[in-house]
Amino acid sequence: MCGIVGYIGSKDAKEVLLRGLEKLEYRGYDSAGIAIVNKDGVHVFKEKGRIAALRNVVDTAVSGTAGIGHTRWATHGVPSRVNAHPHQSETERFTLVHNGVIENYEKLKREYLADIELTSDTDTEIIVQLVERFAREEKDVEAAISKTLSLLKGSYATAILDKQDSSKVYVGKNKSPLLIGVGDGVNVIASDAMAMLQVTNQFLEIMDEELVIVTRDNVTVKTLEGTVVERDPFTAELDESDIEKGTYPHFMLKEIDEQPFVMRNIIQKYQNEDGSVRLEEDIRQAMTSSDRIYIIAAGTSYHAGLVGKQLIEKLTNCPVEVHIASEFLYNMPVLSKNPLFVFISQSGETADLRGVLVEVKKLGYKTLTVTNVPGSTLSREADFTLHTYAGPEIAVASTKAYTAQMAVFTLLAVDTAKAKGIELDFDPLQELGIVASVMETLCDQKESFEQIARDFLSVTRNCFFIGRATDYYVCLEGSLKLKEISYIQAEGFAGGELKHGTIALIEDGTPVVALATQDHVNLSIRGNVKEVVARGAAPCIISMEGMEEKDDTFVIPTVHKLLTPLVSVIPMQLIAYYAALHRDCDVDKPRNLAKSVTVE
Ligand code: AGP
Ligand code: GLU
Repeated sequence: MCGIVGYIGSKDAKEVLLRGLEKLEYRGYDSAGIAIVNKDGVHVFKEKGRIAALRNVVDTAVSGTAGIGHTRWATHGVPSRVNAHPHQSETERFTLVHNGVIENYEKLKREYLADIELTSDTDTEIIVQLVERFAREEKDVEAAISKTLSLLKGSYATAILDKQDSSKVYVGKNKSPLLIGVGDGVNVIASDAMAMLQVTNQFLEIMDEELVIVTRDNVTVKTLEGTVVERDPFTAELDESDIEKGTYPHFMLKEIDEQPFVMRNIIQKYQNEDGSVRLEEDIRQAMTSSDRIYIIAAGTSYHAGLVGKQLIEKLTNCPVEVHIASEFLYNMPVLSKNPLFVFISQSGETADLRGVLVEVKKLGYKTLTVTNVPGSTLSREADFTLHTYAGPEIAVASTKAYTAQMAVFTLLAVDTAKAKGIELDFDPLQELGIVASVMETLCDQKESFEQIARDFLSVTRNCFFIGRATDYYVCLEGSLKLKEISYIQAEGFAGGELKHGTIALIEDGTPVVALATQDHVNLSIRGNVKEVVARGAAPCIISMEGMEEKDDTFVIPTVHKLLTPLVSVIPMQLIAYYAALHRDCDVDKPRNLAKSVTVE
Protein backbone atom coordinates (compact mmCIF):
# COMPACT_ATOMS: atom_id res chain seq x y z
CA MET A 1 0.00 0.00 0.00
CA CYS A 2 2.90 2.31 0.60
CA GLY A 3 5.93 2.76 -1.51
CA ILE A 4 8.44 1.15 -3.82
CA VAL A 5 11.55 2.64 -5.39
CA GLY A 6 14.22 1.10 -7.58
CA TYR A 7 17.39 2.25 -9.30
CA ILE A 8 19.67 0.86 -11.98
CA GLY A 9 22.35 3.15 -13.38
CA SER A 10 25.97 4.08 -12.85
CA LYS A 11 25.86 5.85 -9.45
CA ASP A 12 25.67 4.29 -6.02
CA ALA A 13 22.01 3.28 -5.62
CA LYS A 14 21.87 3.66 -1.82
CA GLU A 15 21.38 7.39 -1.50
CA VAL A 16 18.97 7.63 -4.45
CA LEU A 17 16.83 4.88 -2.91
CA LEU A 18 16.86 6.42 0.57
CA ARG A 19 16.00 9.87 -0.77
CA GLY A 20 13.29 8.32 -2.90
CA LEU A 21 11.81 6.59 0.14
CA GLU A 22 11.90 9.88 2.04
CA LYS A 23 9.79 11.43 -0.71
CA LEU A 24 7.28 8.60 -0.26
CA GLU A 25 7.15 8.99 3.54
CA TYR A 26 4.01 11.11 3.29
CA ARG A 27 2.07 8.06 2.13
CA GLY A 28 2.30 6.61 5.64
CA TYR A 29 4.27 3.48 6.59
CA ASP A 30 5.55 1.53 9.56
CA SER A 31 8.87 0.07 8.41
CA ALA A 32 11.27 0.38 5.53
CA GLY A 33 14.11 -1.37 3.77
CA ILE A 34 16.47 -1.38 0.81
CA ALA A 35 18.48 -4.01 -1.06
CA ILE A 36 21.64 -3.24 -3.02
CA VAL A 37 23.07 -5.67 -5.53
CA ASN A 38 26.78 -5.73 -6.41
CA LYS A 39 29.39 -8.30 -7.42
CA ASP A 40 29.45 -9.72 -3.87
CA GLY A 41 25.72 -10.42 -3.86
CA VAL A 42 22.60 -8.74 -2.52
CA HIS A 43 22.78 -6.70 0.68
CA VAL A 44 19.52 -6.14 2.55
CA PHE A 45 18.98 -3.48 5.21
CA LYS A 46 15.64 -3.03 6.90
CA GLU A 47 14.20 -1.55 10.06
CA LYS A 48 10.94 -0.89 11.84
CA GLY A 49 9.94 2.78 12.05
CA ARG A 50 11.05 5.78 10.04
CA ILE A 51 13.53 6.07 7.17
CA ALA A 52 15.82 7.82 9.68
CA ALA A 53 15.96 4.52 11.60
CA LEU A 54 16.73 2.67 8.36
CA ARG A 55 19.56 5.10 7.62
CA ASN A 56 21.12 4.10 10.95
CA VAL A 57 21.35 0.45 9.96
CA VAL A 58 22.49 0.88 6.34
CA ASP A 59 26.17 -0.07 6.02
CA THR A 60 27.73 2.93 4.28
CA ALA A 61 30.61 0.75 3.07
CA VAL A 62 28.29 -1.28 0.85
CA SER A 63 27.74 0.19 -2.59
CA GLY A 64 26.18 -0.99 -5.84
CA THR A 65 24.64 0.49 -8.95
CA ALA A 66 21.29 -1.31 -8.69
CA GLY A 67 18.83 -1.71 -5.88
CA ILE A 68 15.25 -1.63 -4.67
CA GLY A 69 13.58 -0.01 -1.66
CA HIS A 70 10.27 -0.19 0.18
CA THR A 71 8.08 1.45 2.77
CA ARG A 72 5.66 -1.02 4.31
CA TRP A 73 2.18 -0.43 5.67
CA ALA A 74 1.58 -3.77 7.33
CA THR A 75 -1.42 -5.79 6.22
CA HIS A 76 -0.20 -9.29 7.17
CA GLY A 77 2.06 -9.57 10.20
CA VAL A 78 2.96 -6.90 12.73
CA PRO A 79 5.28 -4.02 11.82
CA SER A 80 8.74 -5.43 12.65
CA ARG A 81 12.19 -5.73 11.18
CA VAL A 82 11.55 -9.35 10.15
CA ASN A 83 8.29 -8.54 8.36
CA ALA A 84 9.75 -5.42 6.72
CA HIS A 85 10.65 -5.74 3.04
CA PRO A 86 12.80 -6.65 1.07
CA HIS A 87 12.16 -10.37 1.49
CA GLN A 88 14.48 -13.05 0.16
CA SER A 89 14.01 -16.52 -1.28
CA GLU A 90 15.29 -19.73 0.34
CA THR A 91 18.84 -19.54 -1.04
CA GLU A 92 18.77 -15.71 -1.11
CA ARG A 93 19.02 -15.77 -4.90
CA PHE A 94 15.96 -13.52 -5.31
CA THR A 95 15.12 -10.39 -3.32
CA LEU A 96 11.74 -8.70 -3.57
CA VAL A 97 9.65 -5.76 -2.41
CA HIS A 98 5.87 -5.74 -2.68
CA ASN A 99 3.00 -3.35 -2.08
CA GLY A 100 -0.51 -4.75 -1.91
CA VAL A 101 -2.24 -7.85 -0.62
CA ILE A 102 -1.98 -11.40 -1.96
CA GLU A 103 -5.38 -12.87 -1.24
CA ASN A 104 -4.51 -16.51 -2.08
CA TYR A 105 -1.13 -16.65 -0.33
CA GLU A 106 -2.16 -19.44 2.05
CA LYS A 107 -3.41 -21.60 -0.82
CA LEU A 108 -0.22 -20.99 -2.84
CA LYS A 109 1.89 -21.84 0.17
CA ARG A 110 0.03 -25.15 0.62
CA GLU A 111 0.17 -26.04 -3.07
CA TYR A 112 3.74 -25.09 -3.98
CA LEU A 113 5.74 -24.39 -0.85
CA ALA A 114 4.58 -26.92 1.73
CA ASP A 115 8.19 -27.94 2.40
CA ILE A 116 9.44 -24.41 3.13
CA GLU A 117 9.56 -22.70 6.52
CA LEU A 118 8.70 -19.06 5.85
CA THR A 119 10.73 -16.51 7.76
CA SER A 120 8.09 -13.77 8.01
CA ASP A 121 4.36 -13.50 8.68
CA THR A 122 3.72 -11.57 5.48
CA ASP A 123 1.66 -12.58 2.48
CA THR A 124 4.52 -11.15 0.41
CA GLU A 125 7.16 -13.76 1.15
CA ILE A 126 5.47 -16.49 -0.86
CA ILE A 127 6.02 -14.44 -4.05
CA VAL A 128 9.78 -14.50 -3.76
CA GLN A 129 9.81 -18.15 -2.69
CA LEU A 130 7.67 -19.08 -5.70
CA VAL A 131 10.01 -17.21 -8.06
CA GLU A 132 12.95 -19.24 -6.82
CA ARG A 133 11.00 -22.50 -6.97
CA PHE A 134 9.92 -21.87 -10.56
CA ALA A 135 13.34 -20.52 -11.61
CA ARG A 136 14.81 -23.85 -10.52
CA GLU A 137 12.26 -25.75 -12.58
CA GLU A 138 12.11 -23.48 -15.62
CA LYS A 139 15.74 -22.34 -15.68
CA ASP A 140 14.44 -19.06 -17.07
CA VAL A 141 13.94 -16.15 -14.69
CA GLU A 142 11.47 -14.21 -16.82
CA ALA A 143 9.30 -17.31 -17.24
CA ALA A 144 9.53 -18.03 -13.51
CA ILE A 145 8.42 -14.50 -12.59
CA SER A 146 5.61 -14.47 -15.16
CA LYS A 147 4.37 -17.81 -13.89
CA THR A 148 4.47 -16.55 -10.30
CA LEU A 149 2.65 -13.31 -11.09
CA SER A 150 -0.03 -15.11 -13.05
CA LEU A 151 -0.81 -17.25 -9.99
CA LEU A 152 -1.30 -14.29 -7.66
CA LYS A 153 -4.79 -13.14 -6.72
CA GLY A 154 -5.11 -9.69 -5.19
CA SER A 155 -3.05 -6.57 -5.62
CA TYR A 156 0.64 -6.16 -6.13
CA ALA A 157 3.32 -3.78 -7.22
CA THR A 158 6.63 -5.55 -7.04
CA ALA A 159 10.31 -5.21 -7.91
CA ILE A 160 12.67 -8.18 -7.91
CA LEU A 161 16.46 -8.54 -7.93
CA ASP A 162 18.34 -11.66 -9.04
CA LYS A 163 21.73 -12.17 -7.36
CA GLN A 164 22.97 -14.02 -10.43
CA ASP A 165 22.28 -11.12 -12.79
CA SER A 166 22.77 -7.66 -11.33
CA SER A 167 22.08 -6.02 -14.71
CA LYS A 168 18.30 -6.32 -14.36
CA VAL A 169 15.43 -5.36 -12.11
CA TYR A 170 12.14 -7.17 -12.78
CA VAL A 171 8.96 -5.24 -12.17
CA GLY A 172 5.27 -6.14 -12.22
CA LYS A 173 1.96 -4.77 -11.04
CA ASN A 174 -1.71 -5.53 -10.65
CA LYS A 175 -4.05 -2.87 -9.21
CA SER A 176 -1.30 -1.23 -7.08
CA PRO A 177 0.44 1.77 -8.66
CA LEU A 178 3.98 1.62 -10.09
CA LEU A 179 5.87 3.63 -12.71
CA ILE A 180 9.20 3.30 -14.52
CA GLY A 181 11.29 6.49 -14.70
CA VAL A 182 13.37 6.70 -17.85
CA GLY A 183 16.75 8.50 -17.88
CA ASP A 184 19.95 8.57 -19.88
CA GLY A 185 22.00 5.53 -18.86
CA VAL A 186 19.79 5.16 -15.81
CA ASN A 187 16.28 3.86 -15.18
CA VAL A 188 14.29 3.99 -11.99
CA ILE A 189 11.15 2.56 -10.45
CA ALA A 190 8.69 4.44 -8.25
CA SER A 191 5.19 4.13 -6.84
CA ASP A 192 4.87 7.84 -7.33
CA ALA A 193 6.75 10.08 -9.78
CA MET A 194 7.63 12.43 -6.90
CA ALA A 195 10.06 9.88 -5.48
CA MET A 196 12.25 9.89 -8.57
CA LEU A 197 12.07 13.47 -9.82
CA GLN A 198 15.62 13.59 -8.47
CA VAL A 199 16.59 11.42 -11.48
CA THR A 200 14.06 12.11 -14.26
CA ASN A 201 10.69 13.60 -15.15
CA GLN A 202 10.05 11.04 -17.93
CA PHE A 203 7.88 8.15 -16.78
CA LEU A 204 6.41 5.07 -18.37
CA GLU A 205 3.10 3.60 -17.26
CA ILE A 206 2.87 -0.09 -16.45
CA MET A 207 -0.48 -1.77 -16.98
CA ASP A 208 -1.89 -4.53 -14.81
CA GLU A 209 -0.39 -7.97 -15.42
CA GLU A 210 2.66 -6.83 -17.34
CA LEU A 211 6.24 -7.79 -16.64
CA VAL A 212 8.86 -5.10 -17.13
CA ILE A 213 12.56 -5.87 -17.43
CA VAL A 214 14.56 -2.81 -16.49
CA THR A 215 18.28 -2.49 -17.25
CA ARG A 216 20.52 0.58 -17.17
CA ASP A 217 19.84 1.39 -20.82
CA ASN A 218 16.56 -0.36 -21.60
CA VAL A 219 13.03 -0.87 -20.42
CA THR A 220 11.22 -3.86 -21.94
CA VAL A 221 7.53 -4.20 -21.26
CA LYS A 222 5.87 -7.58 -21.87
CA THR A 223 2.53 -9.17 -21.15
CA LEU A 224 2.72 -12.14 -18.77
CA GLU A 225 2.39 -14.31 -21.89
CA GLY A 226 5.61 -12.79 -23.26
CA THR A 227 4.36 -10.42 -25.99
CA VAL A 228 6.44 -7.23 -26.13
CA VAL A 229 4.43 -4.02 -25.68
CA GLU A 230 5.63 -0.64 -27.06
CA ARG A 231 4.80 2.42 -24.95
CA ASP A 232 6.06 6.00 -24.90
CA PRO A 233 6.98 7.79 -21.68
CA PHE A 234 5.05 10.84 -20.46
CA THR A 235 6.40 13.95 -18.75
CA ALA A 236 5.48 14.29 -15.07
CA GLU A 237 4.35 17.91 -14.66
CA LEU A 238 5.73 18.24 -11.16
CA ASP A 239 8.23 20.56 -9.63
CA GLU A 240 10.46 19.28 -6.83
CA SER A 241 9.92 22.54 -4.94
CA ASP A 242 6.17 21.73 -4.76
CA ILE A 243 6.99 18.87 -2.49
CA GLU A 244 9.23 20.75 -0.06
CA LYS A 245 7.96 22.23 3.20
CA GLY A 246 9.90 25.47 2.75
CA THR A 247 9.70 27.54 5.94
CA TYR A 248 6.58 25.77 7.22
CA PRO A 249 6.80 23.45 10.22
CA HIS A 250 4.34 21.03 8.59
CA PHE A 251 3.02 20.24 5.13
CA MET A 252 -0.51 20.45 6.49
CA LEU A 253 -0.13 24.09 7.48
CA LYS A 254 1.51 24.90 4.14
CA GLU A 255 -1.31 23.19 2.28
CA ILE A 256 -4.00 25.00 4.29
CA ASP A 257 -2.31 28.29 3.42
CA GLU A 258 -2.11 27.36 -0.26
CA GLN A 259 -5.89 27.20 -0.63
CA PRO A 260 -6.44 30.78 -1.87
CA PHE A 261 -3.75 30.20 -4.49
CA VAL A 262 -5.37 26.90 -5.51
CA MET A 263 -8.73 28.66 -5.99
CA ARG A 264 -7.11 31.26 -8.25
CA ASN A 265 -5.30 28.52 -10.14
CA ILE A 266 -8.58 26.67 -10.76
CA ILE A 267 -10.24 29.89 -11.94
CA GLN A 268 -7.39 30.47 -14.38
CA LYS A 269 -7.31 26.88 -15.66
CA TYR A 270 -11.06 26.71 -16.28
CA GLN A 271 -11.68 30.22 -17.60
CA ASN A 272 -12.25 31.13 -21.25
CA GLU A 273 -10.98 34.43 -22.60
CA ASP A 274 -14.51 35.87 -22.40
CA GLY A 275 -14.64 34.99 -18.70
CA SER A 276 -16.96 31.98 -19.08
CA VAL A 277 -16.28 28.47 -17.72
CA ARG A 278 -14.29 26.12 -19.95
CA LEU A 279 -14.81 22.36 -19.70
CA GLU A 280 -14.27 19.66 -22.31
CA GLU A 281 -17.16 19.08 -24.67
CA ASP A 282 -17.08 15.30 -23.93
CA ILE A 283 -17.58 15.91 -20.23
CA ARG A 284 -20.42 18.36 -20.89
CA GLN A 285 -22.07 15.76 -23.14
CA ALA A 286 -21.71 13.05 -20.51
CA MET A 287 -23.18 15.30 -17.83
CA THR A 288 -26.13 16.55 -19.85
CA SER A 289 -27.04 13.17 -21.31
CA SER A 290 -27.05 11.39 -17.97
CA ASP A 291 -30.30 11.00 -16.03
CA ARG A 292 -28.58 10.41 -12.66
CA ILE A 293 -25.09 10.92 -11.37
CA TYR A 294 -23.45 8.47 -9.00
CA ILE A 295 -20.57 9.97 -7.06
CA ILE A 296 -18.17 7.38 -5.65
CA ALA A 297 -15.51 8.40 -3.13
CA ALA A 298 -13.92 7.77 0.27
CA GLY A 299 -13.06 9.83 3.35
CA THR A 300 -12.58 13.53 2.72
CA SER A 301 -13.31 13.12 -0.98
CA TYR A 302 -16.65 11.56 -0.01
CA HIS A 303 -17.38 14.67 2.04
CA ALA A 304 -16.58 16.81 -1.01
CA GLY A 305 -18.97 14.56 -2.96
CA LEU A 306 -21.81 15.37 -0.54
CA VAL A 307 -21.29 19.07 -1.25
CA GLY A 308 -20.93 18.26 -4.97
CA LYS A 309 -24.36 16.60 -4.91
CA GLN A 310 -25.91 19.81 -3.54
CA LEU A 311 -24.21 21.89 -6.22
CA ILE A 312 -25.24 19.67 -9.11
CA GLU A 313 -28.81 19.11 -7.93
CA LYS A 314 -29.43 22.77 -7.12
CA LEU A 315 -27.90 24.13 -10.32
CA THR A 316 -28.80 21.48 -12.88
CA ASN A 317 -31.85 19.64 -11.46
CA CYS A 318 -30.14 16.31 -12.21
CA PRO A 319 -30.48 13.81 -9.33
CA VAL A 320 -27.22 12.75 -7.69
CA GLU A 321 -26.39 9.91 -5.32
CA VAL A 322 -23.19 9.85 -3.30
CA HIS A 323 -21.76 6.48 -2.27
CA ILE A 324 -18.89 5.34 -0.09
CA ALA A 325 -16.66 3.43 -2.50
CA SER A 326 -15.90 0.51 -0.18
CA GLU A 327 -19.63 -0.28 0.23
CA PHE A 328 -20.94 0.36 -3.26
CA LEU A 329 -20.45 -3.07 -4.80
CA TYR A 330 -21.86 -4.89 -1.76
CA ASN A 331 -24.95 -2.75 -1.72
CA MET A 332 -25.52 -1.64 -5.26
CA PRO A 333 -28.52 0.68 -5.71
CA VAL A 334 -30.98 0.21 -8.56
CA LEU A 335 -29.28 2.17 -11.32
CA SER A 336 -31.01 4.64 -13.61
CA LYS A 337 -31.15 4.14 -17.39
CA ASN A 338 -28.28 6.49 -18.20
CA PRO A 339 -26.00 6.81 -15.22
CA LEU A 340 -22.74 8.71 -15.14
CA PHE A 341 -20.23 7.58 -12.52
CA VAL A 342 -18.06 10.30 -11.05
CA PHE A 343 -15.04 9.19 -8.98
CA ILE A 344 -13.53 11.79 -6.66
CA SER A 345 -10.03 11.05 -5.47
CA GLN A 346 -7.15 13.28 -4.47
CA SER A 347 -4.59 10.57 -5.17
CA GLY A 348 -6.41 8.87 -8.03
CA GLU A 349 -5.15 5.58 -6.61
CA THR A 350 -7.67 4.56 -3.96
CA ALA A 351 -8.32 0.83 -4.37
CA ASP A 352 -11.91 0.98 -3.12
CA LEU A 353 -12.76 3.39 -5.93
CA ARG A 354 -10.89 1.42 -8.52
CA GLY A 355 -12.85 -1.70 -7.59
CA VAL A 356 -16.07 0.17 -8.46
CA LEU A 357 -14.58 1.74 -11.60
CA VAL A 358 -13.59 -1.65 -13.00
CA GLU A 359 -17.05 -3.11 -12.33
CA VAL A 360 -19.09 -0.22 -13.75
CA LYS A 361 -16.89 -0.13 -16.84
CA LYS A 362 -17.66 -3.81 -17.38
CA LEU A 363 -21.34 -2.84 -17.28
CA GLY A 364 -20.64 -0.31 -20.03
CA TYR A 365 -21.30 2.91 -18.06
CA LYS A 366 -19.52 6.23 -18.63
CA THR A 367 -17.00 7.30 -16.01
CA LEU A 368 -15.41 10.59 -14.98
CA THR A 369 -12.57 10.96 -12.46
CA VAL A 370 -12.09 14.20 -10.53
CA THR A 371 -8.53 14.01 -9.25
CA ASN A 372 -5.47 15.93 -8.22
CA VAL A 373 -3.15 13.49 -10.02
CA PRO A 374 -3.97 13.36 -13.74
CA GLY A 375 -1.67 10.42 -14.63
CA SER A 376 -3.05 8.31 -11.77
CA THR A 377 -4.78 4.96 -12.20
CA LEU A 378 -8.33 6.31 -11.79
CA SER A 379 -7.59 9.10 -14.21
CA ARG A 380 -6.14 6.78 -16.84
CA GLU A 381 -8.89 4.24 -16.57
CA ALA A 382 -11.94 6.51 -16.54
CA ASP A 383 -13.41 7.88 -19.78
CA PHE A 384 -12.79 11.49 -18.70
CA THR A 385 -10.73 13.37 -16.12
CA LEU A 386 -11.23 16.70 -14.41
CA HIS A 387 -8.05 17.96 -12.81
CA THR A 388 -8.33 19.75 -9.46
CA TYR A 389 -5.02 21.64 -9.85
CA ALA A 390 -4.25 21.77 -6.12
CA GLY A 391 -0.57 20.81 -6.54
CA PRO A 392 0.92 17.84 -4.67
CA GLU A 393 -0.75 17.22 -1.33
CA ILE A 394 1.71 15.62 1.05
CA ALA A 395 0.12 15.76 4.52
CA VAL A 396 -2.00 12.67 5.12
CA ALA A 397 -4.87 14.90 6.24
CA SER A 398 -6.41 16.27 3.08
CA THR A 399 -7.09 20.03 3.05
CA LYS A 400 -6.46 21.87 -0.21
CA ALA A 401 -7.55 18.87 -2.28
CA TYR A 402 -10.97 18.97 -0.57
CA THR A 403 -11.62 22.64 -1.31
CA ALA A 404 -10.26 22.19 -4.85
CA GLN A 405 -12.65 19.27 -5.43
CA MET A 406 -15.61 21.42 -4.36
CA ALA A 407 -14.45 24.33 -6.56
CA VAL A 408 -14.20 22.03 -9.58
CA PHE A 409 -17.64 20.60 -8.82
CA THR A 410 -18.99 24.15 -8.79
CA LEU A 411 -17.65 24.68 -12.30
CA LEU A 412 -18.91 21.29 -13.46
CA ALA A 413 -22.39 22.09 -12.15
CA VAL A 414 -22.35 25.59 -13.66
CA ASP A 415 -21.18 24.32 -17.05
CA THR A 416 -23.85 21.60 -17.09
CA ALA A 417 -26.57 24.07 -16.09
CA LYS A 418 -25.56 26.41 -18.92
CA ALA A 419 -25.51 23.55 -21.42
CA LYS A 420 -29.03 22.66 -20.30
CA GLY A 421 -30.13 26.26 -20.87
CA ILE A 422 -30.64 26.99 -17.16
CA GLU A 423 -30.06 30.68 -16.30
CA LEU A 424 -27.84 31.33 -13.29
CA ASP A 425 -28.01 34.47 -11.19
CA PHE A 426 -24.33 34.56 -10.28
CA ASP A 427 -20.91 34.53 -11.91
CA PRO A 428 -19.20 31.38 -10.56
CA LEU A 429 -15.64 32.47 -11.34
CA GLN A 430 -16.14 35.81 -9.65
CA GLU A 431 -17.67 34.07 -6.62
CA LEU A 432 -14.71 31.69 -6.44
CA GLY A 433 -12.47 34.78 -6.51
CA ILE A 434 -14.32 36.06 -3.41
CA VAL A 435 -13.88 32.62 -1.82
CA ALA A 436 -10.12 32.92 -2.40
CA SER A 437 -10.00 36.31 -0.66
CA VAL A 438 -12.04 35.08 2.33
CA MET A 439 -9.77 32.03 2.59
CA GLU A 440 -6.83 34.44 2.80
CA THR A 441 -8.53 36.43 5.56
CA LEU A 442 -9.13 33.23 7.53
CA CYS A 443 -5.58 31.95 7.04
CA ASP A 444 -4.34 35.30 8.37
CA GLN A 445 -6.16 34.73 11.66
CA LYS A 446 -4.38 31.59 12.77
CA GLU A 447 -4.00 32.84 16.37
CA SER A 448 -7.81 32.81 16.77
CA PHE A 449 -7.98 29.15 15.78
CA GLU A 450 -4.97 28.25 17.89
CA GLN A 451 -6.78 29.88 20.82
CA ILE A 452 -10.00 27.96 20.07
CA ALA A 453 -8.03 24.70 19.98
CA ARG A 454 -6.43 25.63 23.33
CA ASP A 455 -9.72 26.67 24.96
CA PHE A 456 -11.90 23.82 23.78
CA LEU A 457 -9.69 20.87 22.98
CA SER A 458 -6.59 20.81 25.16
CA VAL A 459 -7.85 18.24 27.68
CA THR A 460 -10.90 16.64 26.12
CA ARG A 461 -11.24 13.02 24.96
CA ASN A 462 -14.11 13.72 22.62
CA CYS A 463 -15.75 16.48 20.61
CA PHE A 464 -18.93 16.85 18.55
CA PHE A 465 -19.48 18.89 15.42
CA ILE A 466 -23.04 19.88 14.57
CA GLY A 467 -24.52 21.63 11.58
CA ARG A 468 -27.59 21.52 9.38
CA ALA A 469 -28.01 21.35 5.62
CA THR A 470 -24.62 21.80 3.89
CA ASP A 471 -23.03 22.74 7.23
CA TYR A 472 -23.62 19.15 8.32
CA TYR A 473 -21.34 17.90 5.51
CA VAL A 474 -18.62 20.30 6.58
CA CYS A 475 -19.04 19.03 10.15
CA LEU A 476 -18.36 15.49 8.91
CA GLU A 477 -15.15 16.79 7.37
CA GLY A 478 -14.22 18.89 10.43
CA SER A 479 -14.61 15.89 12.71
CA LEU A 480 -12.60 13.63 10.38
CA LYS A 481 -9.79 16.20 10.32
CA LEU A 482 -9.72 16.45 14.09
CA LYS A 483 -9.83 12.73 14.81
CA GLU A 484 -7.27 11.68 12.23
CA ILE A 485 -4.51 13.99 13.39
CA SER A 486 -5.23 14.72 17.09
CA TYR A 487 -6.76 11.31 18.02
CA ILE A 488 -9.59 13.10 19.83
CA GLN A 489 -12.74 11.09 19.26
CA ALA A 490 -14.73 13.49 17.11
CA GLU A 491 -18.08 12.96 15.43
CA GLY A 492 -20.04 15.11 13.00
CA PHE A 493 -23.83 15.16 13.33
CA ALA A 494 -26.80 16.76 11.71
CA GLY A 495 -27.91 19.18 14.45
CA GLY A 496 -31.37 17.65 14.75
CA GLU A 497 -30.05 14.12 15.08
CA LEU A 498 -28.13 14.44 18.36
CA LYS A 499 -31.30 14.25 20.43
CA HIS A 500 -32.05 10.84 18.91
CA GLY A 501 -29.31 9.22 20.93
CA THR A 502 -25.92 10.86 20.93
CA ILE A 503 -26.94 13.68 23.24
CA ALA A 504 -26.57 11.04 25.99
CA LEU A 505 -22.80 11.55 25.64
CA ILE A 506 -22.89 15.27 26.40
CA GLU A 507 -21.45 16.00 29.84
CA ASP A 508 -20.20 19.07 31.64
CA GLY A 509 -17.59 20.69 29.41
CA THR A 510 -17.98 18.40 26.34
CA PRO A 511 -16.88 20.55 23.40
CA VAL A 512 -19.50 20.97 20.67
CA VAL A 513 -18.46 22.89 17.57
CA ALA A 514 -21.54 24.28 15.82
CA LEU A 515 -21.44 25.62 12.29
CA ALA A 516 -24.00 28.25 11.27
CA THR A 517 -23.47 29.54 7.74
CA GLN A 518 -26.86 28.66 6.23
CA ASP A 519 -29.52 31.31 6.64
CA HIS A 520 -32.49 28.98 6.20
CA VAL A 521 -31.39 26.75 9.09
CA ASN A 522 -29.82 29.35 11.35
CA LEU A 523 -32.68 29.24 13.85
CA SER A 524 -32.69 25.44 13.94
CA ILE A 525 -28.97 25.10 14.61
CA ARG A 526 -29.16 27.78 17.30
CA GLY A 527 -31.90 25.67 18.92
CA ASN A 528 -29.68 22.59 18.78
CA VAL A 529 -26.87 24.53 20.44
CA LYS A 530 -29.25 25.46 23.29
CA GLU A 531 -30.12 21.77 23.73
CA VAL A 532 -26.50 20.76 24.25
CA VAL A 533 -25.64 23.79 26.38
CA ALA A 534 -28.55 22.87 28.67
CA ARG A 535 -26.74 19.58 29.24
CA GLY A 536 -23.41 21.16 30.08
CA ALA A 537 -21.69 21.30 26.65
CA ALA A 538 -19.05 23.94 25.94
CA PRO A 539 -20.18 25.44 22.62
CA CYS A 540 -17.83 26.83 19.98
CA ILE A 541 -20.05 28.55 17.42
CA ILE A 542 -18.62 29.39 14.02
CA SER A 543 -21.08 31.49 12.04
CA MET A 544 -21.15 33.67 8.95
CA GLU A 545 -21.57 37.42 8.64
CA GLY A 546 -25.23 38.29 8.40
CA MET A 547 -26.37 35.53 10.73
CA GLU A 548 -23.97 35.97 13.64
CA GLU A 549 -25.10 36.34 17.26
CA LYS A 550 -23.46 38.07 20.19
CA ASP A 551 -21.57 35.16 21.75
CA ASP A 552 -20.37 33.45 18.56
CA THR A 553 -16.79 32.27 18.83
CA PHE A 554 -15.80 33.19 15.28
CA VAL A 555 -17.57 34.90 12.40
CA ILE A 556 -16.55 34.09 8.81
CA PRO A 557 -16.85 36.82 6.14
CA THR A 558 -19.71 36.09 3.80
CA VAL A 559 -19.47 34.23 0.47
CA HIS A 560 -22.08 32.95 -2.01
CA LYS A 561 -24.53 30.66 -0.18
CA LEU A 562 -23.65 27.62 -2.31
CA LEU A 563 -19.93 28.04 -1.65
CA THR A 564 -19.86 28.35 2.15
CA PRO A 565 -18.24 24.89 2.64
CA LEU A 566 -15.14 26.12 0.80
CA VAL A 567 -14.49 28.69 3.52
CA SER A 568 -16.19 27.24 6.61
CA VAL A 569 -13.88 24.22 6.49
CA ILE A 570 -10.80 26.40 7.01
CA PRO A 571 -11.47 27.11 10.71
CA MET A 572 -12.04 23.35 11.11
CA GLN A 573 -8.74 22.52 9.42
CA LEU A 574 -6.81 25.03 11.51
CA ILE A 575 -8.49 24.00 14.78
CA ALA A 576 -7.60 20.36 14.02
CA TYR A 577 -4.04 21.36 13.17
CA TYR A 578 -3.48 23.27 16.42
CA ALA A 579 -5.25 20.63 18.54
CA ALA A 580 -2.85 18.02 17.11
CA LEU A 581 0.12 20.32 17.65
CA HIS A 582 -0.79 20.99 21.29
CA ARG A 583 -0.99 17.26 21.85
CA ASP A 584 2.42 16.66 20.29
CA CYS A 585 0.95 14.49 17.56
CA ASP A 586 2.73 13.79 14.29
CA VAL A 587 0.58 16.20 12.25
CA ASP A 588 1.68 15.18 8.76
CA LYS A 589 1.95 11.46 9.37
CA PRO A 590 -0.76 10.40 11.81
CA ARG A 591 -0.56 6.89 13.23
CA ASN A 592 -2.08 3.97 11.32
CA LEU A 593 -2.96 6.10 8.28
CA ALA A 594 -1.64 6.13 4.75
CA LYS A 595 -1.97 8.88 2.16
CA SER A 596 -2.64 6.60 -0.74
CA VAL A 597 -4.94 3.75 0.27
CA THR A 598 -4.16 1.18 -2.39
CA VAL A 599 -5.55 -1.88 -0.61
CA GLU A 600 -9.24 -2.73 -0.43
C1 AGP B 1 -8.31 12.64 4.39
O1 AGP B 1 -7.85 13.50 5.35
C2 AGP B 1 -8.02 11.23 4.61
N1 AGP B 1 -6.69 10.97 4.96
C3 AGP B 1 -8.71 10.20 3.74
O2 AGP B 1 -10.02 10.14 4.24
C4 AGP B 1 -8.78 10.37 2.22
O3 AGP B 1 -9.58 11.47 1.89
C5 AGP B 1 -9.34 9.08 1.59
O4 AGP B 1 -8.48 8.02 1.88
C6 AGP B 1 -9.57 9.19 0.11
O5 AGP B 1 -8.38 9.40 -0.58
P1 AGP B 1 -8.37 9.88 -2.09
O6 AGP B 1 -9.06 11.19 -2.16
O7 AGP B 1 -6.93 9.95 -2.46
O8 AGP B 1 -9.12 8.83 -2.88
N1 GLU C 1 0.92 -7.12 2.37
C1 GLU C 1 2.32 -6.79 2.50
C2 GLU C 1 2.78 -6.82 3.93
O1 GLU C 1 1.98 -6.79 4.86
C3 GLU C 1 2.68 -5.47 1.84
C4 GLU C 1 2.13 -4.29 2.57
C5 GLU C 1 2.41 -2.97 1.83
O2 GLU C 1 1.79 -2.73 0.80
O3 GLU C 1 3.23 -2.16 2.32
O4 GLU C 1 3.95 -6.89 4.15
